[in-house]
Amino acid sequence: MRTDTAPVIRLEDYSPARYTIETVALDIQLSPRATQITSRLALRRRDETAPGTPLVLEGGDLELVGLALDGASVHRDDFTVTPEQLVLLAPPEGPFELEIVTKVDPDANTRLEGLYRSSGTYCTQCEAEGFRRITYFLDRPDVLAVYTTRIEAKRSECPILLGNGNPVESGPVSDKPDRHFAIWHDPHPKPSYLFAMVAGDLACVTDRFQTRSGRAVDLGIYVEHGKESLCDWAMDSLKRSMRWDEEVFGCEYDLDVFNIVAVSDFNMGAMENKGLNIFNDKYVLADQDTATDQDYANIEAVIAHEYFHNWTGNRITCRDWFQLCLKEGLTVFRDQEFSSDMRSRPVKRIADVRLLKAHQFPEDAGPLAHPVRPRKYTEINNFYTATVYEKGAEVVHMLKTLLGAETFRQGMDLYFRRHDGEATTIEAFLACFAESSGQDLGAFAIWYEQAGTPLVTVASRHDAAAGTLTLELTQDIAPLPGQPSSAPAVIPLRFGLLGPNGADMTPTSIEGMSVRGDCLVLEHRKQTVTFSGIPHRPVLSLLRDFSAPVRLEVEEDESDIAFRAGHDRDPFNRWQASQTLVTRHLLRALQGGTSAPEDSTLISQVFGQLLADQSLDPAFKALALQLPGEADLAREKGKDVAPEQIHDLRQGLRRRIARDHLTLLREIEALRPQGSFDPGADQAGARALANQALTFLAVSGEADDADLVARRYETATNMTDRLAALTLLVHEGMPAAEAALEDFRARHATSALALDKWFMVQATSPAGDALERVEALTRHALFDEGNPNRVRALVHAFATGNPVQFARKDGAGFAFAAAQALKLDARNPQVASRLLTCFRSWRAYDTVRSDLAEKTLRSLAEAENLSRDCRDIVERCLQ
Ligand code: ARG
Ligand code: ZN
Repeated sequence: MRTDTAPVIRLEDYSPARYTIETVALDIQLSPRATQITSRLALRRRDETAPGTPLVLEGGDLELVGLALDGASVHRDDFTVTPEQLVLLAPPEGPFELEIVTKVDPDANTRLEGLYRSSGTYCTQCEAEGFRRITYFLDRPDVLAVYTTRIEAKRSECPILLGNGNPVESGPVSDKPDRHFAIWHDPHPKPSYLFAMVAGDLACVTDRFQTRSGRAVDLGIYVEHGKESLCDWAMDSLKRSMRWDEEVFGCEYDLDVFNIVAVSDFNMGAMENKGLNIFNDKYVLADQDTATDQDYANIEAVIAHEYFHNWTGNRITCRDWFQLCLKEGLTVFRDQEFSSDMRSRPVKRIADVRLLKAHQFPEDAGPLAHPVRPRKYTEINNFYTATVYEKGAEVVHMLKTLLGAETFRQGMDLYFRRHDGEATTIEAFLACFAESSGQDLGAFAIWYEQAGTPLVTVASRHDAAAGTLTLELTQDIAPLPGQPSSAPAVIPLRFGLLGPNGADMTPTSIEGMSVRGDCLVLEHRKQTVTFSGIPHRPVLSLLRDFSAPVRLEVEEDESDIAFRAGHDRDPFNRWQASQTLVTRHLLRALQGGTSAPEDSTLISQVFGQLLADQSLDPAFKALALQLPGEADLAREKGKDVAPEQIHDLRQGLRRRIARDHLTLLREIEALRPQGSFDPGADQAGARALANQALTFLAVSGEADDADLVARRYETATNMTDRLAALTLLVHEGMPAAEAALEDFRARHATSALALDKWFMVQATSPAGDALERVEALTRHALFDEGNPNRVRALVHAFATGNPVQFARKDGAGFAFAAAQALKLDARNPQVASRLLTCFRSWRAYDTVRSDLAEKTLRSLAEAENLSRDCRDIVERCLQ
């Protein structure tokens, strides 16, 4: 392994910047190969800084063209410069102005960080450390400045020029007839990671929003010409987000304009730049023919997320990157609340928990585990993780559960009042809730400090004569690299005790644990709680609404779980019960090697009841009927994972359920919504249920059902139904698969986002030749290594969404992912390192596979010129 490792940045080493930057005036002369940036900074030495302390500005691959101090050019002996750093050796004692001229090459920027071009449009991505790729700067979130941006470009190439804040002035450039300019001013001090500019030939969809205090805001969504009609849903989502944030959090928008630009080449989902959000176009563009219901839901959520950042992230930002969850966890929590209000709250909760368990739990159980607030990093871009985002949101969710909605809102109000305009910390955030509630949140803070998912175990004893129920609860976190032991956390456990008729029983008293409403608060490693006034043995319903991000193991038999699946008044736990039942059944079968078919009778019965239950919300029913995924089962098994065994067993159960309930399934499948398309929750839920039924029918083995799937593909009137049918045809190896794939490709030849789905369906097929197919597709004319969405649709989808073929027993899947990552790394380290997280659970495989995975990782570690991004992931995976 190489020894020249990148420096480790530690939270404990934080100290404020030596200088402050009050204003930034940028002049950007755009040109595809040589863009010149003039940056005029008003700087001031902080009182704590000794006079004469050098000013150290960060850069990234920069070329310095000029440097002037208070109007006079700086002598060669008075500064040092490299592409990565500019040091002014002896700055003046008082305030001074520094003018820095740099040159960058947007066309050569394949990293998609800093200033780059996407389909001819100039755009920027500065979070986390991209601004330093535009100009030398104190590129850290605690340096807040007021920005004025002048953008100049060729009018014919870039009729649209956009910046942060409000438009000030625009017009022709006097001595250059083919060029024009625009000036933007953002009055709100902000860190450099929120800087953005866009220039290009774009179409604009406009609308207007009036804030509750009467401010008129011009809304614009900028897209490629011809895509205007795909923006309706995004615009509608934006207006609903703006209204909701006023009503639910009291947050009002604060500029005259709010612009969103959709670009097709983007490393992440979207970016909350002040007044100028830049989006991966997959989270903007939608119509019924190219977007699924899931896409519509994602657009609604991401538009809301980025908009909500205006207060949680922009007005109040992070002191340093260790505090990333301060804005991300909180903003995910806020967008989840928004979607819950727009749709069905229980269905949204189940969807969020499924994502958490699928992405965050494995991260938290392996070598890439880290606290919600990490304590060290070498590459910050590798910490935009499910732990920071989704577990971070769960921590806020727990805070609300523990404090109650009203006190939580008071804490948020205090946070907005007290910290507006600041770059702050998790401590400051928690202090607002401690104050609003009068509670000591010191023990709660461990959720930010400690990695790993607590395992909560519960054993119960019922004493009929005394009428008491006693629970013994424990909590623990398995050892992790760098975290051999753990401290107990404060775990809110919402609960119910189900009586014989399924209704909740009401205990006369609860002793041994603190209780807040329907919530037990577990605080110690081991605790005992006794409920009195419980004459009959109840069925336990614990962790209702998934009140804490923990794994729960309750000593109980299958009949209790089945009872909960049928009767719990908490919809989340009803769903969880049906999942637990299937998971326990399949894991038993995996452990024992074989599973007697009669074992699955109970499960088939539960599914039969679910299918027959007309009172259930279709969206909920669709989720409850979904068998746990192969990756879910692998995660629950935890070790000696052999993906093809899991696949085969799961398929067997799926077939059994299909064959036991053919008639019901066919009836439900036929209830597909007809008539005009609506992306709202009701129709989407009905489609989800019909397609879930189709998923079972596809494996019934009946010719009629195979015909049905093919017919559903042919007659689909929207992408949700078409893609559902195509996926079944391909993944089940049905005769109509190849023709349907060909049809799909031809039909969607002009929609990149739809074509991504064509790649993804093939990449995730469990068929034995999937890898060969994926390799061939990397050479297909439609594959584009420079487009992150396309790479994710093919390569990432194979490595993270095809458990069986990625973990082929000959190691070819691992080798493919590694080779692709190496190739990508030279072009775009962020996309490459994200791909490599596919190895994060390598130790959970059986020995044949884990040996192969380890070999692959070791050979990656030996590679020359690995980016800091990839090296960090590889080395942490091997630790
Ligand atoms: N702040 C953005 C969001 O959550 C994510 C940007 C992350 N970008 C990056 N290169 N790490 O919406
Ligand atoms: Zn965010």
